[in-house]
This record gives sequence, C-alpha cells and structure tokens, in this order.
Amino acid sequence: MSDIRIGFGLLGAGLVAPFHAKALRASAHTRLVAAADTDPARLAKLTVEFGCAGYPSLEAMLEDPAVQVVNILTPNHLHHDAVLACARAGRHALVEKPPAMSLGEVDGMAAACAAAGVKIGVVLQCRTRKPVQAMRQAIREGRFGKIYHADTYMKWFRSTEYYKMDAWRSSRRSGAGVTIQQAFHYIDLLQYLAGPVRRVEARMNNLAHPAVELEDTLLAFVDYQSGAQGVVQASTALWPGTDMRIEINGENGTAIMIGERMETWKFRDERPEDAGIRQYGSGAVATGATGAADFTFYDHQVVIEDMVDAITTARDPMITLASARPTLEWALAMYQSAKQHAPVDLPIPDEDAVW
Ligand SMILES: NC(=O)c1ccc[n+]([C@@H]2O[C@H](COP(=O)([O-])OP(=O)(O)OC[C@H]3O[C@@H](n4cnc5c(N)ncnc54)[C@H](O)[C@@H]3O)[C@@H](O)[C@H]2O)c1
Repeated sequence: MSDIRIGFGLLGAGLVAPFHAKALRASAHTRLVAAADTDPARLAKLTVEFGCAGYPSLEAMLEDPAVQVVNILTPNHLHHDAVLACARAGRHALVEKPPAMSLGEVDGMAAACAAAGVKIGVVLQCRTRKPVQAMRQAIREGRFGKIYHADTYMKWFRSTEYYKMDAWRSSRRSGAGVTIQQAFHYIDLLQYLAGPVRRVEARMNNLAHPAVELEDTLLAFVDYQSGAQGVVQASTALWPGTDMRIEINGENGTAIMIGERMETWKFRDERPEDAGIRQYGSGAVATGATGAADFTFYDHQVVIEDMVDAITTARDPMITLASARPTLEWALAMYQSAKQHAPVDLPIPDEDAVW
C-alpha cells in the first residue's frame, strides 16, 4: 500500500468541491488528477487552486485514464445519471448525499455498478464521527437495553441568498428542501443507529424563506421497528443556527452528540473506557449550523481513505448504497406524510407521488 496513489476526479466544482480536494490532498494514498464542470469559471478556480486537469463534462473527464474514482458533486437530481456513466466507463464512484432522488434510481445505480464490477460509496461522512461509532458499538453490545427514544434536532440557519445562489437549491425536484438536503445526514444517523423505521408522521412548512417554495422546517414523529420512538426536528430558519444534536435514550443508558462532540455518555454499567469516550470531539469543529460552507474536510477525508482501502483490498466501502437506501426511503416517506397530512408506513407504496 505504501506507494499506491489512487487517481480521483471531481465532477462538480461548486461549494463542496474544495472540501473534497483538501481531503484528497491530506490523504496519503490519493491524488486529485482532474475536475469537470459545465461552468468554466468555477472549473478554472478549482483547477488553479488545486493544480489538476479541467474538463468541460463528465464524458471528457472519463477519457482521462488517470481518473480511477469519480466523486460526484453535482446537484442531487444529477447523481443517478453520473453514476451510470461512471459505471459504463469502468470507474468507481463516490457519490454525495442524498445518493439519488428515488429508490428506483438507487436500485439502478447499485445494479449498474455491480454489473460493471466497480465500487460505489456514499458521502454520509457524519457516520465516521467517533461519538457516532461509539453509540453504534454500544447499541450492538446492548448497553442501552431497550431503546426508548432516538431523536435528532438540527436547528440551523441558511439565508435566502443561499437558496438563490444556484437554481437547484430552491427546486424540490432537484433535491432541495431541508429534509432531503441538510437534515439527510442526521436522518441517516438515526437510521444507522436505531433503524429501520416502521412509520413516520411529518409536518413541513416554510417559516423564514418566503422567496422560495420549499420546506425550511420539518417536524416529525418516528416509530422504529424496534419499538423505539423518535423525533426529527430540522430547520434552516433558526438564526444564527446552533449545533445539531443526536440523542439515544435507553432503559440503561443515554448518549447525546452535539455537533461532533460527545455531550452525554452515561450507562448504568459504567466501564473504564467510558471516561475516554466522554472526551470525544472538541466542540471547536464547525458542523454546518450557521452556513453552507461552515464545516471541515476531516470527515470527508475518512470517507475517501476508506474508499481507497475498499478498492485496494477488494471489499465494500464503509458507507454502501444499500445502507443509504433506507435513509432515502425514510426521507421520501416524510414528504409523503407531510403532503397527505397523515402517518405513512414503510415501505412506501408509491414513491413517485412524493414529488
Ligand atoms: N456531505 C456534505 O456535507 C455536503 C456538503 C455540501 C454539499 N453536499 C452535496 O454535494 C453536492 C453538490 O453540492 P454543492 O453545494 O457543491 O452544489 P453547487 O451548486 O455549489 O455545485 C455543483 C456544481 O456542479 C456543476 N454542474 C451542474 N451540472 C453539471 C454537469 N452536468 N456536469 C458537470 N458539472 C455540473 C455546477 O456548475 C456546479 O459548479 C450535492 O449533492 C450536495 O447535497 C454535501
């Protein structure tokens, strides 16, 4: 492994692209070889800053034999077609969240990548945080006992200018809206920790962004298949924005993560390692509460390094498409519930009706 350098290409040179580029620069076994964007100015800015080749389209970038993995950083509704093009060209793909706009698209992407023998991973990087991994381990070991509550609270702020910055940011069909865009990470953490989900009941409204026709606020009740209950409270209307929380409460323990910091870690069966786990996270690392670029590349780096390891050791990436599918289904079910003003049971019968 020592001198391996996997070549990466970035599809999309927008807001998230520099985070990927910095993560690639910081990783030992990666090389940013190219970027592609239909916007020449954005492409030039990125390629000059990070010193890589620039292409006007994905198709042109796929002609470059140095590109082994494509990180798909285009607006959400474009992820599906890009993954299929990568698979046809025999390239691995790392797709930003949400992986696609429908379960049918996710299934098509999985089938295409399997048939082509390429890897596909999803950038749901919050799963890699140490407090999240500790919670997952404790759940697997049964330390919480019966889980009663699994909740997330994302009280963030985004300005109207953010929604107007690019056309897709205010178009629900393009994957905008607080549920499928910002809160997707934390719905995913609940799914990862406490899922699968049995039933959701959601209400969505627009509190602070009358200039866009989207929900900026989501309030939902959740019933998990395990019998646990939960709440999802997510908003981009709440100035100035505060760090998100994940809370797991069981009969024998409570764990709370705020941002990337373990806030509470208490079990009836205190163990020697618990004191160290309580120190996870510094609280000084921004996690997106106050602005769209208000975060770091550290979690992305973990996802990218895992992809390299998955390729070189011929295993699945840590965050598979299959593991992200139930999160998308949950998000779609919440849209359906809000539209119908009624609870929705999973699996959802007609996902097309969501949009
Ligand atoms: N994981 C995270 O924390 C995180 C953070 C921000 C954004 N994202 C995700 O990253 C993706 C991109 O978000 P963003 O904020 O960077 O968006 P953006 O609009 O800033 O950038 C997207 C770029 O894609 C380009 N593009 C559009 N269509 C194209 C095409 N057909 N071919 C080539 N380029 C094309 C646009 O010109 C633009 O520069 C989204 O899926 C978003 O959800 C994830």
